[in-house]
Amino acid sequence: MAYVAHPERYSRIGYRRCGNSGLVLPVISLGLWHNFGHVDLRSNFEPMLYTAFDLGIIHFDLANNYGPPPGSAESNFGAILKDGLGRYRDEMIISTKAGFNMWEGPYGEWGSKKYLVASLDQSLKRMGLEYVDIFYHHRPDPNTDLEESMSTLDLVVRQGKALYAGISNYPPDQAQKAFDILKRLGTPCVIHQPKYSMFERTPEKGLLETVQKNNVGCIAFSPLAQGLLTDKYLKGIPEQSRAARNPSLKPDQITPEVVKKISKLNDLAKGRGQKLSEMAISWLLRDQRITSVLIGASKVQHIHDAYNAHTKIEFSPEELSAIDSILNS
Ligand SMILES: NC(=O)c1ccc[n+]([C@@H]2O[C@H](COP(=O)([O-])OP(=O)(O)OC[C@H]3O[C@@H](n4cnc5c(N)ncnc54)[C@H](OP(=O)(O)O)[C@@H]3O)[C@@H](O)[C@H]2O)c1
Repeated sequence: MAYVAHPERYSRIGYRRCGNSGLVLPVISLGLWHNFGHVDLRSNFEPMLYTAFDLGIIHFDLANNYGPPPGSAESNFGAILKDGLGRYRDEMIISTKAGFNMWEGPYGEWGSKKYLVASLDQSLKRMGLEYVDIFYHHRPDPNTDLEESMSTLDLVVRQGKALYAGISNYPPDQAQKAFDILKRLGTPCVIHQPKYSMFERTPEKGLLETVQKNNVGCIAFSPLAQGLLTDKYLKGIPEQSRAARNPSLKPDQITPEVVKKISKLNDLAKGRGQKLSEMAISWLLRDQRITSVLIGASKVQHIHDAYNAHTKIEFSPEELSAIDSILNS
């Protein structure tokens, strides 16, 4: 039977605006980096999309290379849109990106006009879409002039292939230059997508200030440090976990010191009446500069956990300093 969205979906979660732009995102967004590829089961990932949408999580984040194999997350997402979810297209914010390796040769990655235009065309085809809502440059290119990469974002927005332009993984100085160029071109950057979690606090060293100063939204990816900020690895590495299945999280990252920190954070979360995964997301959302927290999930329950996080985003000064002292121990 065709999917029908929950009628109460818009009273379930909060939304925040990217600067003064028209782009408004749910405080939790769902990313399709892992678990939505051809190696995964549709019977597992399709319900995750419906669960998210029913909870008001109307933003789905993709990239050209998500899978595996690369491109397959977009194809699978496109198939589900075609089979029913797409009737809600005008309610959805769908993003994709280009920057990482996609095909052979000098035009298969980075930030040239040729690569970015070709990649977005491929993404639109795979998803069966006429446009994406946000097109990101996925990472800075050390060799191509920033002006060329940013002019291409401006171009695809003017062509109607994307509605908004974004950047990801740009450090503060390069982000500022990108914001300036895009502003001059008349297609202001509306959103930055950095990696940000309790375990990855680089954005606090200038990036959050830069996005705020420029009135740009900020969507934090890998808020659970790929699953480390949960109770999953407290007793070893479970067979079905990312650390066991995917090279993006290496077992040697799960050292006894890391497990000790996770265990202390887990106790602190319990004291707040939360799961650690929930507290890690709440901790990001307490900062109003964070427009949305971009989660990953391998099962429906993960989406409910992330959703629960938005209901408890207040932290006492004592809790915040206890978290910092665990992280710095
Ligand atoms: N712009 C970029 O360069 C970039 C890079 C990376 C990611 N992203 C975006 O950010 C999104 C999220 O990244 P991420 O997947 O690394 O995010 P994450 O939320 O840090 O990690 C998600 C993983 O943690 C585990 N997990 C989630 N909820 C859990 C819970 N309640 N209890 C126990 N385990 C839980 C699951 O892994 P298991 O498989 O172990 O169950 C899940 O796949 C991506 O899909 C993508 O859209 C962007």
